[in-house]
Amino acid sequence: ETGAITLDPGFKNTGSCESAITFLDGEKGILRYRGYSIEELAEKADFLEVVYLLIFEELPNKQQLDNFKNDIIGQSEVNEDMQKVINGFPSSAHPMGILSSLTSALIAFNPKSVNVDSEEDMYKAIVKILAKFPTLAAWTLRKRNNQALNNRDTNLGYVESLLKMMFEKPGEEYKLDQTVVDALDKLLILHADHEQNCSTSAVRLVGSSQAGLFASISAGVSALWGPLHGGANQAVIEMLEEIQNDGGDTSKFIAKAKDKDDPFRLMGFGHRVYKNFDPRAKIIKKSADEVLDALGVEDPILDIAKSLEKAALEDPYFVERKLYPNVDFYSGIIYRAMGIPTEMFTVMFAVGRLPGWIAQWKEMRLGKEPIGRPRQVYIGENLRSFKQLENR
Ligand code: SDX
Repeated sequence: ETGAITLDPGFKNTGSCESAITFLDGEKGILRYRGYSIEELAEKADFLEVVYLLIFEELPNKQQLDNFKNDIIGQSEVNEDMQKVINGFPSSAHPMGILSSLTSALIAFNPKSVNVDSEEDMYKAIVKILAKFPTLAAWTLRKRNNQALNNRDTNLGYVESLLKMMFEKPGEEYKLDQTVVDALDKLLILHADHEQNCSTSAVRLVGSSQAGLFASISAGVSALWGPLHGGANQAVIEMLEEIQNDGGDTSKFIAKAKDKDDPFRLMGFGHRVYKNFDPRAKIIKKSADEVLDALGVEDPILDIAKSLEKAALEDPYFVERKLYPNVDFYSGIIYRAMGIPTEMFTVMFAVGRLPGWIAQWKEMRLGKEPIGRPRQVYIGENLRSFKQLENR
């Protein structure tokens, strides 16, 4: 029922592709990973099962999942010299810029992760980046807080150890809150892949030159950073705080978003593919209520977000353009309730999207896709002769 169409061969080397990983139907608001609905996976799976599904095409059985988890734990140590790289940054550096640089720096300490033609080498490189990326992500927060860098607690699960690396303080025992663990696990699942979005296309395009997995992921981190893409989750909270500081009147901001002469856009709204509700936004909105309630957090910007959504969905400008809340509209409210600072929201998106980037890169490499080269329509000058300097 997904339509038996195939890509015109001429498209194959332009960056467009055939893929068996994620299916989206923007009109119906459908999202599936390897045929499983996002609603079922968010409800019934845990993040590492989804990571395995995306990368290895099937949900793992118990043995496969245990082996996968142990392989990741075995590679979770990050070379101490990597700390010299992050220590070279000012603490004011944006976490996404640090994360992209550290991801690329990993290559220097794992040279064999570049030319991975055998499936065995490919598996080793995939496990390495899955194992070390959360530590690098946590380091970007610790850098901002001028805290000592750490490594994964190998007695904890993937999500639990990420939270501990982010928030543990010297001399204090870090207490995990199961509500936070479950909410983060679900958010990571919801962000895990999304077909050929901007950052995934960057990963596939860089990977198509055989630059290596880590370099491709680093490019994906940089592409995700932009406020029109993954950076929107940070921009949404900044927008909601601006509305709050302005007295909470959403109508002024709706008017600004509609004004063609004003560059302001409603952050967290609209999508290139979804012309209906982003199914992830529905799940996250419900989860925001549950998590804030469970944590006993009263956050007035959740009410501002809901009134902004209501006002926009009743406004003809948004209705005519089929602009609905997307994945970024409510996610930041949950991260905030967890105590994650706004500048870290896109880093959390990157941790979630990592398995999708890996799966897409693997599919491209195993599919022996030619180097990608998007096409252009030339609209410049016709042939003309050189003019000497004195004649210009
Ligand atoms: C993500 O691709 C993916 O799958 C991405 C993602 C993923 O999981 O990887 O889903 C994650 O990036 C979600 C999107 C996060 N970005 C934002 O929330 C930023 C705000 N959104 C917009 O900038 C915009 O909606 C985009 C970038 C998301 C989509 O842009 P498009 O498809 O290029 O739409 P467009 O710019 O052509 O807009 C069509 C019309 C225009 O008006 P007209 O010229 O027709 O009069 O809709 C208007 C736009 O001005 N419009 C908006 C708007 N989004 C579109 N107007 C006000 N506010 C907005 N948010």
